[in-house]
Amino acid sequence: MRFDILTLFPAMFSGPLTESILKRAQQAGTIAIQLHDIRTWAIDRHRTADDAPYGGGAGMVMKAEPLAAAIRAVQGPAATDDEHAPADQAPVILLSPDGELFTQAIAHQLAAQPRILLVCGHYEGLDERVRAALITREISIGDYVLTGGELAAMVLIDAVARLVPGVIDSESIAEESHSDWLLEYPHYTRPAVWEGRPVPPVLTSGHHGEVAKWRRRERLRRTLERRPDLLNRAAAAGVLTNDDRRYLAELGWKEL
Ligand code: ADE
Repeated sequence: MRFDILTLFPAMFSGPLTESILKRAQQAGTIAIQLHDIRTWAIDRHRTADDAPYGGGAGMVMKAEPLAAAIRAVQGPAATDDEHAPADQAPVILLSPDGELFTQAIAHQLAAQPRILLVCGHYEGLDERVRAALITREISIGDYVLTGGELAAMVLIDAVARLVPGVIDSESIAEESHSDWLLEYPHYTRPAVWEGRPVPPVLTSGHHGEVAKWRRRERLRRTLERRPDLLNRAAAAGVLTNDDRRYLAELGWKEL
């Protein structure tokens, strides 16, 4: 999978994208990440990418021409203003606090794409006409405002890249928090007793069936305690068994 990042601040990306799992995935060729400096497409001597807003007000607005030229050049020759863009065009995603909230389900959708373009918004935002002409999706990573879309793009890439086949081991994806609306069970490793705190005895019992049952129950208990909203979604998605429901009822869960 290929990620193209369009940004005014390419230097912000060194570090997060060049370490650990993302580094290995790029070396192995399972993912490719290309950075593009929007200023490269600015036409004036000062390489201006922003200007004052029409109608007045605080802050600056990202100018239409350099950003549109950047998106079109990175997208490739078939780029179009048609909102019904042909299927071979990569989605053009703007990171913005006004977008739909990023979730694990969206991460899975994006991981199925061969390529996505990520546009990092800045200043007060971008000229609305570029949004209308060229942006196909807007994503926010949370209900708070960052100084720009760069950190949000890094969060999105991290969450999506690890779902690309071959980047990490697929068993860890199946059981992790949010893939089926349930939070993860707690993990322990040696020593068996740490500062007087023992590991739950079931984990050292060697009884695989009991371990699996305990882990399932821990997932249910944690989700009920911390994110009861997710339990209702799990119930609606049909991932709760009768056994799960009985256990949750014992803990005081009332299904909506
Ligand atoms: N840019 C500024 N705030 C943001 C957010 N919460 N998500 C995505 N992009 C942003």
